[in-house]
Amino acid sequence: MTLDLQSTNWAAQINLKNLPQHVAIIMDGNGRWARKRGMPRLFGHQRGVEALKKAIGFALDVGIPYLSAWAFSTANWRRPETEISGLITILRRTLSKDLAEFHDRDIQLKVIGSKVGLPDDLITMINRAEDLTKDNKKLTLLINFNYDGRTDILEATKKIAQKIKSGDISLEDITEDLFSSHTMTTGIPDPDLLIRTSGVVRLSNYMMWQCTFTEFVFLEKNWPDFTEQDFCTALQDFQKCGRNFGQISA
Ligand code: IPE
Ligand code: IPE
Ligand code: MG
Repeated sequence: MTLDLQSTNWAAQINLKNLPQHVAIIMDGNGRWARKRGMPRLFGHQRGVEALKKAIGFALDVGIPYLSAWAFSTANWRRPETEISGLITILRRTLSKDLAEFHDRDIQLKVIGSKVGLPDDLITMINRAEDLTKDNKKLTLLINFNYDGRTDILEATKKIAQKIKSGDISLEDITEDLFSSHTMTTGIPDPDLLIRTSGVVRLSNYMMWQCTFTEFVFLEKNWPDFTEQDFCTALQDFQKCGRNFGQISA
């Protein structure tokens, strides 16, 4: 993998001092991209990895500290076996072939989602990658794999209920911050910007707890066609919108 750093002067297009801290991406449309070209869906997923590398390179280049990318939802288990195993193979490859470069680029890697149903060797690779990169600082890359938002909320609820049952905490201790700290994204700021490609305008059960005040940018193009310039344009949209958080706009 080469996370090509662009020579483009992004500062001419966006304000580098008003960047989202966390950008989350629903990488959608790989299958349709491939089908349009008469290719198998997995070819689209492979090209999707190249697009993700562009997004990572861009985030590094401009200085976005947290980037999330949804690679596999729990609902995706409903897909044909060949597609599922292909997606698992792609993650395996990323965690082996690309790991050294992530580490060199000071990227901290986290794979967010349930480990239930994942092959043992994949879980070992995930643990190894997370451990190797845990002290890296430039970019935290969250790969959502076997992830969905409601499961995240349910699991957090169970952990909190267990603590109440054992007397570790009381009802009054349950605050938004406490709840957040029990989700799978504990310690990560909520996404400020969410990008979804392929013309689909829905959340599909992505970070349901985390996306309360997130700005959404929906793009018509399929994920494999996503470029650094698309990322930059999404940031321009983000910088144009007034974020009120319920208050009256300035
Ligand atoms: C997104 O592309 C990637 C995953 C869900 C793994 P899709 O595979 O959903 O592609 P389309 O939406 O069928 O075109
Ligand atoms: C969401 O895309 C999941 C990922 C991008 C990994 P889907 O293509 O699975 O979502 P739906 O089924 O169109 O809502
Ligand atoms: Mg899709």
